[in-house]
Amino acid sequence: MKLQAVSSAVTVEVRDHLDPAARAEVAAFLASVAGDQCDAPLDERHRAALGAGSAQAARALLARRGDGVLAGYAQLLPAEAPGGPGRSALEGQRAVAGAGASARGLTASLLSSAAAAARDAGSTLSWWARHAVPADQEAAALAGLVRRRCLLQVRRPAGAGWPPHWSPGEPPAGPAAALRTRPFRVGADERAWLGVNARAFAALADQGSWTAAELAAREAEDWFDPDGFLVRELGGRIAGFCWTRVHPPAPSVAVPRLASSAGAPAPTIGEIYVIGVDPDFRGQHLGSALLRAGCEHLERDGAGEVMLYVDAANAPARALYDAAGFTLHHEDHRYESRAEESPAEESPAGEDPGAGLAR
Ligand SMILES: CC(C)(COP(=O)(O)OP(=O)(O)OC[C@H]1O[C@@H](n2cnc3c(N)ncnc32)[C@H](O)[C@@H]1OP(=O)(O)O)[C@@H](O)C(=O)NCCC(=O)NCCS
Repeated sequence: MKLQAVSSAVTVEVRDHLDPAARAEVAAFLASVAGDQCDAPLDERHRAALGAGSAQAARALLARRGDGVLAGYAQLLPAEAPGGPGRSALEGQRAVAGAGASARGLTASLLSSAAAAARDAGSTLSWWARHAVPADQEAAALAGLVRRRCLLQVRRPAGAGWPPHWSPGEPPAGPAAALRTRPFRVGADERAWLGVNARAFAALADQGSWTAAELAAREAEDWFDPDGFLVRELGGRIAGFCWTRVHPPAPSVAVPRLASSAGAPAPTIGEIYVIGVDPDFRGQHLGSALLRAGCEHLERDGAGEVMLYVDAANAPARALYDAAGFTLHHEDHRYESRAEESPAEESPAGEDPGAGLAR
């Protein structure tokens, strides 16, 4: 364990593994700062790594105030994408308690320690600030990181009304009116779906490049339900799809919820997991019909609220969700080490009409 006194008020312990007691302490801390099941400060991959005790694959950073109480946690894992020629890549996420100046101090301490740990390991650092706050931007700038992406999580109460011209589950007019929605057929639709997914998300490599193996991995997940994976076809061709999922009621890190987080149970959250329309069929209200069908399916499955992620630069999708009554829940920002030859820094939301990206 390496100790860094980052300020007189905060000490960060950098560990290369967590013993069961430390894991339980971290899990209880995360539960105390979590909201509902789609509001967790660490994403599924990081929670799974912590729960399986595999955080030792990289680094765990525990920030303690003067009284020794754990008040912030960050975790570094090997990144899924390489860090550039000859460089490994780490990706980090953080959770801090409280708000205001003390949370800003914790954020800055964790991020500067993470940047130092990545430098020591000869790695680049990619840092997802979930529930981003201005302190993340300040801390990232101090740590030499630049913002590359902004994802919005938007939500809408299940059962809320629809714009008057959004007819129930069917496009109002044009060729798309002949389309029908049906569930995805496991074992039959994979190839065609991968094709339309690649065409719909041509501008977003991390979704558009999905392979048969990546699709199969999702089909093998407990949450996968082909009835919630709605497909619309025309003459045997998939024209668009809306893939939904219902989130399990508890976070993946299995710890009892703390008293502070008790109270009325949070509504079950349904997610519009991926939605896309083949470019040949855009602008015919197919996207709105699919979105409505997906939301209505989630509502029938017991969701009280529907959420989805959208890239801030994806103007068509944002307009669709605005029209459907989704509103901003929070923003997640990704910061990255400056590279010698890096792409331009992210432009402010909505100012890059060519990007057309979704998450
Ligand atoms: C977003 C997407 C699904 C919309 O599908 P679509 O069938 O073209 O959308 P619709 O015809 O139903 O349009 C519905 C509303 O979205 C908005 N919209 C759609 N395309 C738009 C565009 N190019 N520019 C601005 N607004 C647009 C409009 O508000 C429109 O309502 P209106 O026609 O009543 O004004 C489609 O563009 C797509 O597949 N994009 C690539 C994949 C993607 O980004 N998915 C979303 C991931 S979060």
